[in-house]
Amino acid sequence: MDAHVPVLRDRVVELLRPALEAPGAVLVDATLGRAGHARAILSLLPGLSLIGIDTDATAIAESRDLLIAFAGRITLVQAVYDELPQILASLGVPAVQGVLFDLGVSSPQLDNPERGFSYAQDAPLDMRMNQAGSLTAADVLNTYPADRLARVLRDYGEERFARRIADAVVRERQRSPLASTQRLTEIVRESIPAPARRTGGNPAKRTFQALRIEVNGELDALHRALPAALDAIAVGGRIVALAYHSLEDRAVKRALAAGAADTTPPGLPVPLESSRPRFRLLTRGAERATEQEVAANPRAAPVRLRAAERVRPAA
Ligand SMILES: C[S@@+](CC[C@H](N)C(=O)[O-])C[C@H]1O[C@@H](n2cnc3c(N)ncnc32)[C@H](O)[C@@H]1O
Repeated sequence: MDAHVPVLRDRVVELLRPALEAPGAVLVDATLGRAGHARAILSLLPGLSLIGIDTDATAIAESRDLLIAFAGRITLVQAVYDELPQILASLGVPAVQGVLFDLGVSSPQLDNPERGFSYAQDAPLDMRMNQAGSLTAADVLNTYPADRLARVLRDYGEERFARRIADAVVRERQRSPLASTQRLTEIVRESIPAPARRTGGNPAKRTFQALRIEVNGELDALHRALPAALDAIAVGGRIVALAYHSLEDRAVKRALAAGAADTTPPGLPVPLESSRPRFRLLTRGAERATEQEVAANPRAAPVRLRAAERVRPAA
């Protein structure tokens, strides 16, 4: 297996497949990327149609080529995934049988130094998933007041030394604007105490994660998209979500738990029929990649997979 085999591919297919076997089934891949998961599922199920969404125009263009064999049953849309309700309405699709979220950054985005997502390579501080977006990581670093910058690093990077890093960024930009990922990596390294530099991998990792989330409004979009996706799933349909850091996973866990909760008001002697759970969880806690998969594809190391099946219509 190499980095081009999508994370937990076989498990994703196994979980979605029972919901997608009927002719006419529709799967939304909300994070199409290079269509690795999508291709695996489309090639197994000849009656399946796919709606593929990605905010990155390059991902959509390349996936169109990669999925050429399935051209008659795919619709690809460049959009943020929280636009799902409008996309389905415009396509005249009232409900779908599956939704997949494989969250975060794709390997091609990380590996292309020009995109500025990787602290491992020097590049301009960009980090936009949608290259037409107006906010870059350089804008965040060079314009946010120190307090706001520290909050971004703390909230989205869970960075303990957020304030020190933010202050160092502000000092640096008073001399000259920050422009490169390498300089940012150095500033982070210099800002944190020496013992902390020796643990937990590259100390810039959390800062890069935080900036990426801010630049792309990732968590806000996810918090809107998950309930919208659950609402769009038909009875018997399934959702599978792969998260790569704790903030994403928390959002997924909460959304699925809310879907699987009985909403009978407290104090009533018996559960109300209309308040019974709409979903049942298909995973116990979060599933992780095996050691073999992580050895072959280190990007699978942090993954947490959760899934649920719709068991009831809306009340
Ligand atoms: C981990 S990759 C998906 C890889 C894909 N499953 C595959 O097999 O190739 C995540 C993709 O989601 C896209 N993405 C991230 N946030 C998004 C959002 N809010 N709306 C739409 N697409 C998003 C990224 O541009 C990226 O291409």
